[in-house]
Amino acid sequence: MAKAQTRKLIMPKTKHWHFEIDFEKIGWLTIDTPKSPVNVLSSEALTELKALVDRFEDLIASDELAGVVLLSAKNSGFIAGADVSEFDDMADYTLLPKALERAHAIFNQIEKLRAPFVVGIHGFCLGGGLELALACSYRIAVNNDKTRIGFPEVKLGIFPGFGGTGRSIRQAGPVDAMGIMLTGRYLRAGAARGMNLVDKLVRHRDQLRWEARKAVMQNRKSKPAGFFKSVMAKGPLRGMIVNKMRDQVAKKVRPEHYPAPSALIDLFEKQGDDWRAMCKGEIEDFVPMLLSDTSANLRRVFFLSESLKKLGVRGPEKPKFNRVHVIGGGVMGGDIAAWCAFRGMAVTLQDLDMERITPALKRAKKLFKKRLKKPQAVAAAMSRLEADVEGHGIARADVIIEAVVENLEIKQKIFKNVEAKMKPGAIMATNTSSIELEKIADGLKDKSQLIGLHFFNPVAQLPLVEVIRSKYNSDEAVAKGASFALAIGKSPVVVKSATGFLVNRVLMPYMLGAVARVEGGESKELIDAAAVAFGMPMGPIELMDTVGLDVGKSVAEELGHPVPDNSKFTALMAAKKLGRKTGEGFYVWEKGKVQKGQVPPHPDLAGLGRELVKPLVDECEKCVAEGIVASADLADIGVIFGTGFAPFLGGPLKARADGKA
Ligand code: NAI
Repeated sequence: MAKAQTRKLIMPKTKHWHFEIDFEKIGWLTIDTPKSPVNVLSSEALTELKALVDRFEDLIASDELAGVVLLSAKNSGFIAGADVSEFDDMADYTLLPKALERAHAIFNQIEKLRAPFVVGIHGFCLGGGLELALACSYRIAVNNDKTRIGFPEVKLGIFPGFGGTGRSIRQAGPVDAMGIMLTGRYLRAGAARGMNLVDKLVRHRDQLRWEARKAVMQNRKSKPAGFFKSVMAKGPLRGMIVNKMRDQVAKKVRPEHYPAPSALIDLFEKQGDDWRAMCKGEIEDFVPMLLSDTSANLRRVFFLSESLKKLGVRGPEKPKFNRVHVIGGGVMGGDIAAWCAFRGMAVTLQDLDMERITPALKRAKKLFKKRLKKPQAVAAAMSRLEADVEGHGIARADVIIEAVVENLEIKQKIFKNVEAKMKPGAIMATNTSSIELEKIADGLKDKSQLIGLHFFNPVAQLPLVEVIRSKYNSDEAVAKGASFALAIGKSPVVVKSATGFLVNRVLMPYMLGAVARVEGGESKELIDAAAVAFGMPMGPIELMDTVGLDVGKSVAEELGHPVPDNSKFTALMAAKKLGRKTGEGFYVWEKGKVQKGQVPPHPDLAGLGRELVKPLVDECEKCVAEGIVASADLADIGVIFGTGFAPFLGGPLKARADGKA
């Protein structure tokens, strides 16, 4: 739609916002955070917003402003949240409540304006951005694949602090609102509409202005949650859902590690029947969360993971990846191929025969159904994934990933063939977990082309890809590998080609140390429970069963830790009890679920866990000292993303620096 003619008015000078009034007296307010691809609600942006809202009050009183429409100037979306980089500066018990009160006052002022204040949302509308939207009188969102609405605060060890707790409950009722705040999950536009967080959907971004204009002209107002939803916040019903929420949270996290979800439930228990009181109470209860070590460490993890996004090739040279060829359709190759197809690439999958590819295609369909839901989207993803026994895809692929059995000669043969057929400039990568790249590259005409792209199992869940650099590789080849990892939504960490790389190398002494204790007669249930009490996502014995005893043994041997012949480990292997995949290893597994006995009592489970992870942390220190990774920060984020190591401790080396590991 052509932009309507606008009128000039005297307005406060702002860097983050543009404002103009059109001939219909509609004020068009646009947020456009300077020098940033995304909008954030920094304290400067809020100060400017306050000055603007003061002026809106005057203009409304003098009948010069009929209503305001708030939009974003960025293609990336509406607002990604508060400015997390400012949080460290607010780590002060006196400053923080004042900053929160100020934000609350501005949002309350917006809510009380005597004219409609309509917001148009496209792309990301998260955290503080959603809290601002909820203070507006009417919300319109674009119903496409890019819109994401939610409260990611728990992932940073906090909960909404700009009135979002109370206002989301007012709109969606406590069950839905607490559900999204406690999990940090993002909603698509349709789901947000279903929860009443959004009032109206449009199909395209360019319809936002027109629909928002209509909403102002018709003085449309959002309605709060209906009786059946809001009654859940009252009287004994609140007590019931509080208990349920506590049970659900306890299944996922421990309050001593992640206090924010429990603190949010406590706040709801105290104030949940009055959304305004909940907003007010939020200020006091938010402060200790932001000032906690957990939040500081989770923010560190957030910044480290953001820094990984800068690793790829940038600018006009940024490569495009349309076609991927994967050789080896087993556990890893099949899942890597499925993941690339899920991320929109055309994928060919090669194995020795069709029978070996079929199970991978079945698993891929399961993944697509789970993640994409809509049958058309599932069918489209399936059509992007093609079985290719002959290996025709090699010549067309932008990226070729080898994931065949861990055997040097087979890998060398495969790469000689790949080198002869691939197009110039394509990425040639191995997913080997333990063989040094220099050995695999032996015999290639151009050894500089082969990099490692080491994925983790299960591929769809673990965000890390170790980009392995051999002594032959150029910076460019490595950066291209990192670009590819980013293009498929993974986090790349560059690691030197040396046995075990980073993650397997640090995991093995920890897992084998735990196995040795079990062999020595300690309870496996106790060992696993202790590691979890420390903060690991899964105990080391359960992990060994999950990885597979055969895989564990070969990696251990490669790393120079042979498994003793007279051990239980060797006996289990001889009996083909390889862990989860065979239904039995150290544990019995039923339908993929581990069967555990009672955990014997222990006076200091977390202390025992700390003892268990010591070899992992020691090995991390060695990896940094030997230059396997470039810095302690990268070791921390690599080990968190590759093993799930306690994010609330900020990674193994941060935990050691803090005296916690
Ligand atoms: P797998 O045994 O499940 O699959 C290997 C596949 O390669 C089989 O389907 C086999 O038929 C196929 N294959 C063998 N020779 C071939 C050839 N010449 N051409 C085409 N296909 C051929 O093995 P998995 O576990 O998927 O491992 C594959 C690679 O990934 C190995 O290098 C392993 O070290 C690495 N890796 C494994 C992880 C795991 O957790 N299993 C984790 C990360 C890396």
